[in-house]
Amino acid sequence: MPGIRAPSNYSEEPPRHPALKINAKEPFNAEPPRQALVSSYVTPTEFFYKRNHGPIPIVDDIERYSVSITGLIEKPKELFMKVIMSLPKYNVTATLQCAGNRRTAMSQTRTVKGVGWDVSALGNAIWGGAKLADVLELVGISKFTSVTPAGGKHVEFVSIDRCKEENGGPYKASIPLIQATNPEADVLLAYEMNGETLNRDHGYPLRVVVPGVIGARSVKWLDSINIDSQVCQGFFMQKDYKMFPPSVNWDNIDWSTRRPQMDFPVQSAICSLEDVNVGRNGKIAIKGYAVSGGGRGIERVDISTDGGKTWKEASRYQKPGIQYIADEEKSDKWAWVLFEAEVDVQSNAVIVAKAVDTAANVQPEKVEDIWNLRGILNTSWHRVHVQVRHSSM
Ligand code: MTE
Repeated sequence: MPGIRAPSNYSEEPPRHPALKINAKEPFNAEPPRQALVSSYVTPTEFFYKRNHGPIPIVDDIERYSVSITGLIEKPKELFMKVIMSLPKYNVTATLQCAGNRRTAMSQTRTVKGVGWDVSALGNAIWGGAKLADVLELVGISKFTSVTPAGGKHVEFVSIDRCKEENGGPYKASIPLIQATNPEADVLLAYEMNGETLNRDHGYPLRVVVPGVIGARSVKWLDSINIDSQVCQGFFMQKDYKMFPPSVNWDNIDWSTRRPQMDFPVQSAICSLEDVNVGRNGKIAIKGYAVSGGGRGIERVDISTDGGKTWKEASRYQKPGIQYIADEEKSDKWAWVLFEAEVDVQSNAVIVAKAVDTAANVQPEKVEDIWNLRGILNTSWHRVHVQVRHSSM
């Protein structure tokens, strides 16, 4: 590969923050501690979760690195970084969430397959780069195109890293052409994260960012873009990241019966407390995040201290000094909201958070109802336990 290579082992991995909780070492999968996750609206890059399926690629010569655009188009092209960086640059604040976020909790009901994650397999970053809609114009595909004259309907992203799930081949995913060519969908070829050059873990030199969609479609270390008549047939589109009903198990699964998951559903989690907490009776500050897919805002976050019998509303915020109003222009539509509430706990309590998005979608109460064998999209009410030790004074 010109200018960039995929190592065959893990001897050349980048340095990482020691506070990250490592869920798998090789490939490297890690998330920040809960408290750190909600200490700022924009997640510092070093605390942004890292989800990999192989060794991290290495750029040897950025001048020689290029992305080829091929497939069912009239003008296939090789695009060098210089060209991509000469297009108008956009900064899009978007939350990336792994479909496996909160998988560990789903496994506690019935075991699921996959890397375990607590509640921090997501982060909110300012992604800087060119809009894919502008890039595709360079190969003759105009804005708002859903099908090319040659029959291309899907945009496949092929990476440089090698994964065992693809039998040593590259990580791949696709999105519909109409989403890729819609400038309002804000799909980026990003070369910056939080105002700095993208780092190796997050896709240096170039990654796709598909806002509002599960993280698996935001392909890192982009190698080529292929315009195809069908959805990408890669492992991560066809044999993973699909949502099955609770009745499907490893003996009766038929992968072809379900579509690849794209938008993520409404989600929230309390991050100021661990699963089990011991403390004095009195007031507790509850803090967490809420986010929905498809650009839907967060209409409400409800907090309960009695396991879900009664509720009070939490306050929501994004940027300091700007009131968050879901779906209003000054709010970041692709980004999470953080929430806060003060509760009074006098005896042992189960504290619960549930969010409602602007389409009035609500998180499901029980994990059992959405259990699926791959353990994706655990969006059930988030519960934490507080055990009260009364002071003897
Ligand atoms: N792209 C490549 N090339 N290889 C990968 O392993 N993982 C995907 C996606 N893009 C992956 C990838 C998954 S499952 C997620 S959730 C996000 O990247 C994670 O992005 P991050 O590591 O920057 O947080």
